[in-house]
Amino acid sequence: MSEQFELRELRREDAGRCADLEQILFPGDNPWPRDVFAVEFSHPTNFYIGAFDEGYLVAYAGLAMMGPADDPEFEIHTIGVDPEFQRKGLGRVLMDQMMHAADSHDGPVFLEVRTDNVPAISMYEAFGFKTLAVRKNYYRPSGADAYTMQRPRLSDRKDQQTDTEGTPS
Ligand SMILES: CC(C)(COP(=O)(O)OP(=O)(O)OC[C@H]1O[C@@H](n2cnc3c(N)ncnc32)[C@H](O)[C@@H]1OP(=O)(O)O)[C@@H](O)C(=O)NCCC(=O)NCCS
Repeated sequence: MSEQFELRELRREDAGRCADLEQILFPGDNPWPRDVFAVEFSHPTNFYIGAFDEGYLVAYAGLAMMGPADDPEFEIHTIGVDPEFQRKGLGRVLMDQMMHAADSHDGPVFLEVRTDNVPAISMYEAFGFKTLAVRKNYYRPSGADAYTMQRPRLSDRKDQQTDTEGTPS
């Protein structure tokens, strides 16, 4: 990623621009309005981050921490990159930040993604997500299906790596 992009946590004043991007990126799937983003940002267990090009928000992502505080799990609530800034590594940078947060708590991460969203699914698979199930008519009003995907917690990924390394070929 070019060094021109600045990363920072999102604040209430960024909610309008996030809502504008949602309208562009998720037109048939109930894009979140400004108020929903403002509430999301205010939640203490949510982590929202944005990438800015000369002060202009061009990518955003949000992760929620859920479950017991001593053994949390995580959910990606949203991620989107301005179409003019896609394929420049910004999605990967925002994913890195969120996955680092989840790994620092050794928590698994869940998400839903449209079954026809090849770019996002490719990105999630590159980060170790696997498909768990299909949820029919998950998105409204489009009626599109979703995959539920999960990225195992860091310690489980390490165990798996050790198991594979220990298996004689
Ligand atoms: C999915 C999305 C966030 C990716 O952002 P991006 O900044 O373009 O992604 P990056 O440039 O960081 O690429 C990261 C990886 O994503 C995958 N990817 C991104 N665009 C892709 C495309 N058009 N086709 C296939 N794979 C793609 C690749 O695995 C890529 O890794 P690579 O560059 O090593 O091949 C972006 O396409 C987007 O905003 N889509 C619309 C919103 C959306 O669908 N969000 C997900 C909702 S669940």
